[in-house]
Amino acid sequence: MKVGVFDSGIGGLTVVKSLLEHQLFEEIIYFGDTARVPYGIKDKNTIVRYSLEALEFFKNFDIDLLITACNTVSAYALEEMRSQAPFDVIGVVEPGIIATQNALDDKHSNILVLATQATINSKAYETLLQRADFKNITSKATGLFVPIIEEGLFEGEVLQSVMTHYFKEVPCPDAIILGCTHFPLISQTIGSYFGHKATLIHSGEAIVEYLEAHYKFEKKFSNPKLKFFASENPEALRAIARDWLSVET
Ligand code: DGL
Repeated sequence: MKVGVFDSGIGGLTVVKSLLEHQLFEEIIYFGDTARVPYGIKDKNTIVRYSLEALEFFKNFDIDLLITACNTVSAYALEEMRSQAPFDVIGVVEPGIIATQNALDDKHSNILVLATQATINSKAYETLLQRADFKNITSKATGLFVPIIEEGLFEGEVLQSVMTHYFKEVPCPDAIILGCTHFPLISQTIGSYFGHKATLIHSGEAIVEYLEAHYKFEKKFSNPKLKFFASENPEALRAIARDWLSVET
């Protein structure tokens, strides 16, 4: 199978990392809208418009499936994309909810959802968690993490003080949904803030679980073809891909 992965920027490479680890695809085509990132502070109309433009880009490739690695896109634009796509389009919200359900037996567990302002405003995670009968949900827009991660600060003083700012009144969570492509890069630091007591739900791992449950993968591809595109400075994105994913680009 040939898969497309769409993100607002570089963060979706965390999802590509999981796809590569599980060797599911023969070819992966990545597009990051680096010219227009961040999506997480934009309104629904803009997010949908940008997402449909990205969809047009992916129509140039003969893909079997498109993964919207971006939580903000998954929260707002999935239905519109699906209605215009000649291939399946999968977001990261539903797989994240399924992974949370698989991780927690107790419906009274404390769940902390971390995401961009737009994703939190959409209530996409909250609504599905409530539908799954979870009672104790705290949603927190933690957009400041995005530029800090882009700066390469995965631990240290700056991150620590931003975590204190965001988390000081948050009840100790049993599970944390990392509802933004960037957050897996600081999952260790977030986990340690809460004493490593919480299960961390990572979009990349959740989507792999979801794919394996819904599609048939007959072969493993240890050396898939990779193509990385970006709407601005594709060379910078390729350099980050080489660094984070240890691949040739
Ligand atoms: N990719 C976005 C997400 O997962 C985070 C960065 C942005 O705001 O565009 O929600």
